[in-house]
Amino acid sequence: MMDQSRRRILTPASLAAGVLGLFLCLTLLAAPALGQGLTGKWMALGKTMENGEQQKAILDLKQSGNDLSGRLTGLGFGVEVKGTATGNHFELFGVGWDEKAPFVVGDLVNGELHGKQWSDTFVAKPATAADDFPKLPYLDPPALHKVPYNGLAKTPPMGWNSWNLFETRIDDQTVRAIADAMVSSGMRDAGYIYVNIDDTWEGVRDAQGNLQTNHKFPDMKALADYVHSKGLKIGIYSSPGPRTCAGYPASYGHEDQDAKAFAAWGIDYLKYDWCSAGNIYKNEALQPIYQKMGDALQATGRPILYSLCEYGMGAVEKWGPEVGGNVWRTTGDINDSWASMIENVEKQVPTAPWAGPGHFNDPDMLEIGNGHMTDDEYRTHMSLWSLVASPLLAGNDIRKMSDATKAILLNKEVIAIDQDPLGKQASPVKNGDLETWAKPMADGSVAVGVVNLGSAAAPATVSAADLKLGKVKKARDLWAHQDVKFADGKYTATVPSHGVLLLRVWAK
Ligand code: GLA
Repeated sequence: MMDQSRRRILTPASLAAGVLGLFLCLTLLAAPALGQGLTGKWMALGKTMENGEQQKAILDLKQSGNDLSGRLTGLGFGVEVKGTATGNHFELFGVGWDEKAPFVVGDLVNGELHGKQWSDTFVAKPATAADDFPKLPYLDPPALHKVPYNGLAKTPPMGWNSWNLFETRIDDQTVRAIADAMVSSGMRDAGYIYVNIDDTWEGVRDAQGNLQTNHKFPDMKALADYVHSKGLKIGIYSSPGPRTCAGYPASYGHEDQDAKAFAAWGIDYLKYDWCSAGNIYKNEALQPIYQKMGDALQATGRPILYSLCEYGMGAVEKWGPEVGGNVWRTTGDINDSWASMIENVEKQVPTAPWAGPGHFNDPDMLEIGNGHMTDDEYRTHMSLWSLVASPLLAGNDIRKMSDATKAILLNKEVIAIDQDPLGKQASPVKNGDLETWAKPMADGSVAVGVVNLGSAAAPATVSAADLKLGKVKKARDLWAHQDVKFADGKYTATVPSHGVLLLRVWAK
């Protein structure tokens, strides 16, 4: 089961999440004297991280009458806040977040803040200026230029990533066991090649500025060698800011050094997550800052797939390839729910024209097999990710897959839709509760998925004319694994609630 409160603490890139979590597990220390309301800086110390450092967040608040404004900054992220104070009671919202629900509510009680961050309680006490985060020098973003294409990701990358299920609970032994299972389960042979370590592998920097691993990853080079020995590739994670989203040291000012270390370890894939870069740069700097690491990776001479993770800000799809990016996130973090999965894939619809071989839009990693959606919903998840030519990065425990999960992740006919060399991203046409996504394939066929967004089963009709196909020569139901017959240019089937009809249709 996913630990949701922990997830909130450590996934601030979905913005609704981390700030609060960090703020919350803690006792807050704050400075304002009674009578000054909530104005002042409040400091929260969090738990000790895997590298021995301690989590910390600062809430800088200004009260003007009943209005509150300010910023909540954590080790790995920051968010503008606004809200209201009524008497001793206050409510704070994240700017740009869900503005219907306050994320922190509480009361000023005897010079302390007593409150709740979602369901977690906290107490705030006075703090000192010494609690400020150290000021880092501002490094000017480089001038723009084109980073040459690295030749990777001709089709969307496939593999596994540790975050969706394991979050902070990932270590060398688990990665090795997952690599073993990628082979024994048939995942590797189905094309899932990358084994990607997400956040929380980082230690601290040594005197020469080299980023060490923490105790969970005693020897990254040996781990990479092990993963390679299984016929797999290995990925790692960092941020262009000083800290990752979970608060660990990241690549700010050490881009070349880190890229060289990744290459020396044998890393094949880098996920580069904006996180605390947002505390230093404005969004205008996204492109040059991502270019900096694109250059650094290329300078290593090792082919390293470059995955940009900045949640779709600044129209990344338009410049991702310019900075050497192979894939880029288009949304905030997915979670293991129908609503989140559908929201993410629908959000990236406008990016469709920019997908193609070498550079794909990424609506985030798969949740298939993580237990909070039905099998019909997971089949829809797999179908949609394939129709939109998304990276297929499984996010479940490969060591313990049910037959249903295996049948979904290992469906070769669906994988072939994702991996089609034309690299086109399907776009939807809505008709009531039915949403039809069509993807042109390199051999002239069309993959078409009809998703039932409604709460009752419904008949879905696929029409050859709508697909701009002539007479149908052959049509296949990719989940039933059987040919189906079009009559008068049409095929109709009943689609369960949240299910999908997924066909591949060839014209004469
Ligand atoms: C962000 C990313 C997630 C994950 C976490 C790790 O939230 O969007 O995919 O990498 O950071 O802290």
